[in-house]
Amino acid sequence: MIISGKTRVCGVIGDPIEHTLSPIMHNAAFNYLGLDFVFFAFNVKTDDLGNAIRGVRGLHFHGLNVTMPHKNAVVNYLDELDPIVKFLGSANTILNKEGALLGFNTDGIGATKALEENNIEMSEKKVVLLGAGGAAKAIAFSLAEEVADLVILNRTVEKAKALAEALSGIFGNKFNGDRLSSEVLTRNLVDSDILINATSLGMKQKPSLNLAVLQGLTSKLTVMDIVYHPIETKLLKDAKAAGSKVISGVEMLIFQAAASFEIWTGFSAPVQVMRKAALNALSR
Ligand code: ATR
Repeated sequence: MIISGKTRVCGVIGDPIEHTLSPIMHNAAFNYLGLDFVFFAFNVKTDDLGNAIRGVRGLHFHGLNVTMPHKNAVVNYLDELDPIVKFLGSANTILNKEGALLGFNTDGIGATKALEENNIEMSEKKVVLLGAGGAAKAIAFSLAEEVADLVILNRTVEKAKALAEALSGIFGNKFNGDRLSSEVLTRNLVDSDILINATSLGMKQKPSLNLAVLQGLTSKLTVMDIVYHPIETKLLKDAKAAGSKVISGVEMLIFQAAASFEIWTGFSAPVQVMRKAALNALSR
């Protein structure tokens, strides 16, 4: 890679940021396509978000990924928001278009693309989504139009119900919110096609979904996890053992990155190169 006076600068901001895979995926993709772009990671504390975004403007950074804890607050500093960003109230991608900062959210597209590219049909299917936080919201919004039935289960049931209600207001009455419990999940899995874990459960050093919860796993189900560290979560292991088709969190990670890449460069993302880079880094 040769960095010149014309090289466009992209990056990711968050706190913590040391474990991000974004620089690895994006630099691999820039190199592969021979694009004159470079990507860095920046640790930005909450109090410094305004300064960081002023820096993006002042230094003419071309694009930015935004991760925890800034996805919501960053929206207040942008000039134009994609409709999805307006619904979610959060952005994970910024494009600096001739000085105007445009906000996008590619998390939902990342999940639907991960399903599509793994040949999972969503149209007219019943989906059970675990979680009602930022990631779950983005996924629910992206799935909303296509699926026949979307059940959102969350520990804090009010959040699940509020999300289901907000989606019903836009897409019609096919959303339900309920409590995340063994009993409710098992009942819902009986006639479901896809189960997506969009909670942080299963992340290294966090608890897994408990065993009783996993009774309803069958071979007709597709199970996708958004957790990618470990690559094979306990949920995916159990799902595989039950004969379900499984899609790891790495897929969503790659496809949300691919969507950001396309916003910044206008080129089709070399997904296989990004996947290889991410998997290499995760296996180290
Ligand atoms: P993100 O932006 O990654 O989605 P988030 O907005 O903090 O992060 O959401 C985390 C999700 O994981 C929420 O759905 C959360 O449930 P609550 O809304 O009840 O907090 C869920 N979650 C986190 N820890 C959990 C646990 N121990 N048991 C069940 N759900 C959990």
